[in-house]
Amino acid sequence: MTLPEAKDFSYFYSDETNARKPSQLKTCIHLFHDPNIVFLGGGLPMSDFFPWDNLRIDAALPPFSNGIGAPLSGSPEDSLSVSVKKHNTEAGDIPLARALQYGFSAGQPELIEFLKEHTKLIHDMKYSDWNVVATTGNTNAWESTLRVFCNRGDVILAEAHSFSSSLSSAEAQGVIVFPIPIDADGIIPEKLEKILDEWTPGAPRPKLLYTIPTGQNPTGTSLADDRKKEIYRIAQKHDFLIIEDEPYYFLQMDPYVEDVGKREELRNKPKQTHDEFLKSLARTFLSVDTEGRVIRMDSFSKVLAPGTRLGWLTGSKALLQKYVELHEMTIQAPAGFTQVVVSSTLRRWGQDGYLNWLIGLRHEYTLKRDCAIDALHKYLPKSKAFVVNPPIAGMFFTVDIDASAHPDFATKFGSDPSLVEKAIYDRVIASQVLVVPGSWFKTEGETVPPQPTSSKSINNPNEIFFRGTYAAVVPEKLVEGLKRLGQALAEEFNIKA
Ligand SMILES: Cc1ncc(COP(=O)(O)O)c(C=O)c1O
Repeated sequence: MTLPEAKDFSYFYSDETNARKPSQLKTCIHLFHDPNIVFLGGGLPMSDFFPWDNLRIDAALPPFSNGIGAPLSGSPEDSLSVSVKKHNTEAGDIPLARALQYGFSAGQPELIEFLKEHTKLIHDMKYSDWNVVATTGNTNAWESTLRVFCNRGDVILAEAHSFSSSLSSAEAQGVIVFPIPIDADGIIPEKLEKILDEWTPGAPRPKLLYTIPTGQNPTGTSLADDRKKEIYRIAQKHDFLIIEDEPYYFLQMDPYVEDVGKREELRNKPKQTHDEFLKSLARTFLSVDTEGRVIRMDSFSKVLAPGTRLGWLTGSKALLQKYVELHEMTIQAPAGFTQVVVSSTLRRWGQDGYLNWLIGLRHEYTLKRDCAIDALHKYLPKSKAFVVNPPIAGMFFTVDIDASAHPDFATKFGSDPSLVEKAIYDRVIASQVLVVPGSWFKTEGETVPPQPTSSKSINNPNEIFFRGTYAAVVPEKLVEGLKRLGQALAEEFNIKA
């Protein structure tokens, strides 16, 4: 079946994008690698002067039989040892002479090839002219997205609580981020549609929806698959692009099972096959997209290491070309060392080995999530005022709190939930544990002229929450931290154990 081509969305480009002339120097840089050309055209240092002749990488080796995180023995059973040379590399490695040189702003071809194969495995692409472009992670990808599409005063949409650094990045560029209500299954399509149907005449219409569908930061929620279709339909109806920020996509876990006996039974079942794993993954906005209206941001930060500073964008060729033109003038390209290390490792693991890694991570995160939720059930004060919804993806849990249950709510705090939040935060810190207040992640932009009050209503104005992670510490510390959290809340709300 021949797939259609992406639609033309160039009318969304920012003034900056429209004004940018592609770097002329970059149009001829590929000729540097043509042995028939005497290249005198650019300030490229000779690779002979690069002090590195060889880069040795020791890494874990599939199938990771001892589990993710097990120390490596150094033997060929569990350890991969790679030596990447300046020239004449083994097939599929990026020669250091090229990786450490200028050029290839869109990413080194060997890495891009692996990522495209990976994309075909994970997403059901429904148009033909899609592409993949390397980034230095989703922080960079998002900043570039704002610059490619938005002018000062433009409006975008985001979950009512969202990743504070992404919100700050937009606000700093003068972009208004209007909040969309969410529940335990993510963005509520009916509310999104109502907000847009009732959009104030004269207010700029939203250009983008920024969403973190899986293991949302900060709420830990995951957007239900059927809602993605609905949201895509609304994006077509009201004509905006969808930007899916998915650093936690592969941290999808088995659902939480409270009964430890049942949990053990499930754990003892044979390991998931690759097919079962692929089928179990949430549907992505990319897989729903028939028009090239979705841009997806993936990152190696949470699945390999944040310091790789490496990620990638997937979207229509035409839209991604504007990112490449921006990157030629900003980051130039992700660091060559990083691309060599990640590409050499992944190409040796192969797509199957990478799936083994991701399946292993799923297992480890499921254990950590279970440990956190068990401890929260054990140590949180027994009161309806505290609710925990076990996450099915990502690194975060939240404790949702009814601030009006605080004994001094009406008196000391004047019925202001934000003051209760502050009091809890102070007490939590004094108890030597750190979880962070939900209000730090509030999406609060407002258009000019403003949106109707009904578009800004929230379900329970007295509900506050705190975000914590089970990712950062070992289980013993996690349990100790959550015990302290439970004690701090019991003290603050004057609840006896
Ligand atoms: C939703 C979200 N986007 C982006 C990032 C940053 O990702 P990266 O390390 O790829 O820049 C984070 C990290 O915490 C995040 O939670």
